Amino acid sequence: MASPPSYLIPLALFISFILLFASASSNEERKVYIVYMGAQPSSQYPTPEHHLNLLKEILVNNYQKSFSGFAAKLSTDEAAKLSGDYTLDEPSPRDFEGHGSHTSSTAAGRSVSHASLYDLAQGTARGAVPSARLAMYKVCWTFGCTEVDILAAFDDAISDGVDIISASIGSLFQMDYFVDSLAIGSFHAMMNGILTSTAAGNMGPSHNTVTNVAPWLMSVAASSIDRHIIGRVVTGDNVSTLVSFEGILCSDDTALDYSYSYPRPTILLSTADGLKLKHYINNTENPVANIHKSEQVFDPRAPLVASFSSRGPNLVTRDILKPDIIAPGIDILAAWSKAVPVSGITGDPRFVEFNIISGTSMACPHVTGAAAYVKSFHPNWSPAAIMSALMTTAKPMHPSDKQDQLSYGAGQLNPVKAVDPGLVYDAGESDYVQMLCNTGYNETLIKIITGHNSSCPAKAKGNARDLNYPTMGLYVKDGKTFAAKFLRTVTNVGSVGKYKAKVTADSKLNVTVNPSELEFSELNEKRQFTVSVSGVPLPGNSTAPATVIWSNGKHQVRSVMVVYTDFSTSYD
Ligand SMILES: *[C@@H]1O[C@H](CO)[C@@H](O)[C@H](O)[C@H]1NC(C)=O
Ligand SMILES: *[C@@H]1O[C@H](CO)[C@@H](O)[C@H](O)[C@H]1NC(C)=O
Ligand SMILES: *[C@@H]1O[C@H](CO)[C@@H](O)[C@H](O)[C@H]1NC(C)=O
Ligand SMILES: *[C@@H]1O[C@H](CO)[C@@H](O)[C@H](O)[C@H]1NC(C)=O
Ligand SMILES: *[C@@H]1O[C@H](CO)[C@@H](O)[C@H](O)[C@H]1NC(C)=O
Ligand SMILES: *[C@@H]1O[C@H](CO)[C@@H](O)[C@H](O)[C@H]1NC(C)=O
Repeated sequence: MASPPSYLIPLALFISFILLFASASSNEERKVYIVYMGAQPSSQYPTPEHHLNLLKEILVNNYQKSFSGFAAKLSTDEAAKLSGDYTLDEPSPRDFEGHGSHTSSTAAGRSVSHASLYDLAQGTARGAVPSARLAMYKVCWTFGCTEVDILAAFDDAISDGVDIISASIGSLFQMDYFVDSLAIGSFHAMMNGILTSTAAGNMGPSHNTVTNVAPWLMSVAASSIDRHIIGRVVTGDNVSTLVSFEGILCSDDTALDYSYSYPRPTILLSTADGLKLKHYINNTENPVANIHKSEQVFDPRAPLVASFSSRGPNLVTRDILKPDIIAPGIDILAAWSKAVPVSGITGDPRFVEFNIISGTSMACPHVTGAAAYVKSFHPNWSPAAIMSALMTTAKPMHPSDKQDQLSYGAGQLNPVKAVDPGLVYDAGESDYVQMLCNTGYNETLIKIITGHNSSCPAKAKGNARDLNYPTMGLYVKDGKTFAAKFLRTVTNVGSVGKYKAKVTADSKLNVTVNPSELEFSELNEKRQFTVSVSGVPLPGNSTAPATVIWSNGKHQVRSVMVVYTDFSTSYD
């Protein structure tokens, strides 16, 4: 098979810490004005004079309106004076949050033996692709990440010639593509052959919370790993140290699947354990307790979807299933910045080289690394082909009442298999533009995303299902029978020979594939097929899954399908 990579790959990473856009404001006075000039005419990159002139004419006047902040040269005294009233961000590339160091060292970085957080997660740590190089672009500040910075970072990363972009950033709600700087920036990355991997968001377990839903980028959900970190609180007379009870927190039971660093000895208890403890306190004359040092236990249930991981469905383009894939995002050990304490809380005197944190931000760079790994074997593959390879080789997750395809997409990332997927679902700029045309975007809106004129064909509108995507989503009204078709094209990137379709479907669905056999006689040959689905009426808040697997005996090219009805959003 393919030989190991013999060259290094730069990855672009955005340093960020929370999922916010500073401009998400309806206040007219404080609106962000982004001077967005569309795609650079090729060969003319960059045009600093042009930008500078624009800056003189427009930006300086409008800049103060763009967000409530300013940049200025201040003396130490002046800075100290201002910091009483305002949050001052040092205009420095240094990581003052830890998030950027953590996400970048997850994607790339050489082996470090004896890495741990106070002996937790002890072992050899390394990035997903140890030989890759990193280019980092800081776009997030104390108040969040600005769209101007995000677009500038994409612009720089593309011109710097990165191979993959990792953006552990998202908005707090689903945004339409033409107002979403990550969707716009990643579209331009895609046009330049660069796949963007993003975080699906930390707004779970409610439905309708997934962000970064554009089909030209990857939206990554977070799963648990088999190393689970627990705390113990021991009550009783034998305890020598009395800890202050400010260290005991009770939970609503949703946030117990990940651990969190506190500046004081603290333990998070389930509601039931909290009641037991209160009962002990109520009924004991001299209640004492000891919070033990955190310990790690083996969790055979892993991987499970993280409680916080944002769930679909995708409300922007309903028939594109998001999130795309799931990767480790709970209690991940990775590098930490010495500029921020372990708990991230000012005054905590503990500084560490490695820290354990959780989030879809942590899952995203796992996929970034895997994408870079795949690209190192197949440098000419399109972003869609790499994405397809990662998704069709993902390991199936087990559905339950807490998790289904709307939370984990194609399944658990499996980088080793992704290198040799057999077949890929490829797509390019014109396919995405066609999808936008099909789903009702007019040429004005499309131009905001693509940066140049495109024309929508006058022919009858198709739908998003016609986009050659590695998964299949179908939104249906509850209580109604339904029937739909998915058009797909696979490209042979493996061996010649025959593939057969194998279908498994929920009992509420009938799924057929036509033709059900595909013959390939050469590399890069393309074959079309149609997947038809029909079914009995589904209740509200429900999904009905199916899978279509193309198999040639050696490769299993797996596509997940989900038929779903409306989900009520409840932010409880
Ligand atoms: C205290 O320790 C003794 C000896 O280790 C043990 O037998 C006893 O059960 C302990 N009591 C409590 C309340 O934990
Ligand atoms: C503890 O005592 C308080 C006040 O007497 C009471 O409101 C509460 O229900 C008690 N809790 C438990 C768990 O016994
Ligand atoms: C395109 O769509 C937007 C949003 O629906 C609308 O405001 C705009 O007028 C449309 N433009 C054209 C040229 O139809
Ligand atoms: C894009 O379309 C507009 C309106 O039709 C036209 O004025 C403009 O010249 C076109 N630009 C390019 C680069 O073709
Ligand atoms: C599937 O198709 C068969 C044959 O047409 C039909 O009898 C059955 O009711 C269908 N099942 C569903 C779930 O639509
Ligand atoms: C969906 O679930 C919510 C509660 O989470 C409920 O209020 C709503 O009626 C359900 N919708 C349907 C169509 O069953």
